[in-house]
Amino acid sequence: MNQWRSTYRQKLVSAEQALGSIKSGNRVVLGHACSEPPVLVEALVNRFTELSNVEIVHMVAMGPAVFARPGMEQSFRFNGFFLGAPTRKAVAENRGTFTPCFFGEVPRLFKSGILPVDVVLMQVTPPDEEGFCSYGLSVDYTQAAAESATIVVAQMNAKLPRTGGSKIHLDALTWIVERDSPIVELPAPDFGEVERRIGEHIATLVPDGATLQMGIGAIPDAALLSLRDKKDLGIHSEMFSDGVVALAEAGVITNQAKTIHRGKFVATFLMGSRKLYRFVDNNPDVELYPVDYVNDPCVIGQHANMISINSALQVDLMGQVNAEMIGDVQFSGVGGQVDFVRGAGRSPGGKSIIAVPSTAAKGKISRICHQLDTGAAVSTSRNDVHYVVTEYGIADLRGKTVRQRAAALTAIAHPDFRDQLRGTRSPMEEHALVTANQ
Ligand code: COA
Repeated sequence: MNQWRSTYRQKLVSAEQALGSIKSGNRVVLGHACSEPPVLVEALVNRFTELSNVEIVHMVAMGPAVFARPGMEQSFRFNGFFLGAPTRKAVAENRGTFTPCFFGEVPRLFKSGILPVDVVLMQVTPPDEEGFCSYGLSVDYTQAAAESATIVVAQMNAKLPRTGGSKIHLDALTWIVERDSPIVELPAPDFGEVERRIGEHIATLVPDGATLQMGIGAIPDAALLSLRDKKDLGIHSEMFSDGVVALAEAGVITNQAKTIHRGKFVATFLMGSRKLYRFVDNNPDVELYPVDYVNDPCVIGQHANMISINSALQVDLMGQVNAEMIGDVQFSGVGGQVDFVRGAGRSPGGKSIIAVPSTAAKGKISRICHQLDTGAAVSTSRNDVHYVVTEYGIADLRGKTVRQRAAALTAIAHPDFRDQLRGTRSPMEEHALVTANQ
């Protein structure tokens, strides 16, 4: 026991020493979201004059993403599975690129060698008595990257909350950089009347005892607010945030009716404020597992009454969901949306919900549309989609014909756009017309 203590000292280096092992042409995977190691990323960026063609593989970037800024493109090539504010422009301006992949399948890319990992830069907590560190706020693909990488560099940060479920032993780390730095916090989402009404519709679809998955943002938080009168809700979610803490403290989320992992909050990563981080730190009821487990539709589908709540940018009249592109520009990524739509589809009593405000761009654009934007990808297919919710109501698309879908979706569009949507031929009618004319 405690043999690890002798090797621990030998692995302790400065960030500059640790990052010195990265070579031009390497593929470097960064720990995800709030677990991105700021001290290591800064040391990597500081080497930009010495390095060329280093591929940086990442998903939700919560840091400033200096490696994706103009002037860095000869040194670093950003490759994202998901884009956010700091990385979207880099991809649009061809300083980086985007790899489509369901979140639940990212670990397979690393482990199978399709995307071999040279180096992973991650954060961990200080070790326990047995030499095991917690992954903190993100296990997701970080564990698979750590298990596949040639070099594993960890920023050991005592400020990182210690979560259960998954851990990494010091023996698996190549270099350790001891440095406490503040954990990135997510600002509380601002929501108004539209989101509040969407939340109220969602609440009518959620039975007592349901297990929930929800994303981040105004709609999930508004939905949680509307669930205050429910009983014994549970969490099996890609991620969760402060809204879940409030419902847990109110006794609404107990996890006691969950079919598997009874009594536990299960997620693959966490993002929120200090309130969330205090709640999850050393909390034996919070368990984080790799994303290929948490987002596996077969695991999700084992929960009775699994309800998934996700958002979108557009839904066409056949029910195809675009959650990631505006026109032909990549805005975000598919994330775990399809993983959970399919999981909820398998669950006894399960429901998947795509919730969208009826309009975008201050009411100028209808998000319920005749056809998706030219160049936009389908994130969730019409074959998978179940419920679509706007502030005007709920469209239940399962088992409906394309005509019935068009009618149900038009009925929940903003009233200003309904005539226009009714006046358009359905995509199937368009297709029939084109084929008849050929
Ligand atoms: N056409 C043009 N612009 C549009 C648009 C459309 N159809 N839909 C939205 N926009 C604009 C909005 O007006 C807004 O612009 P603004 O910031 O200037 O006001 C911007 O695009 C963002 O839209 P919004 O709906 O506020 O985005 P969001 O932050 O709520 O995120 C998704 C919505 C769909 C992008 C996000 O949920 C996502 O990436 N989902 C996919 C992944 C996923 O579902 N993961 C689930 C598990 S965590």
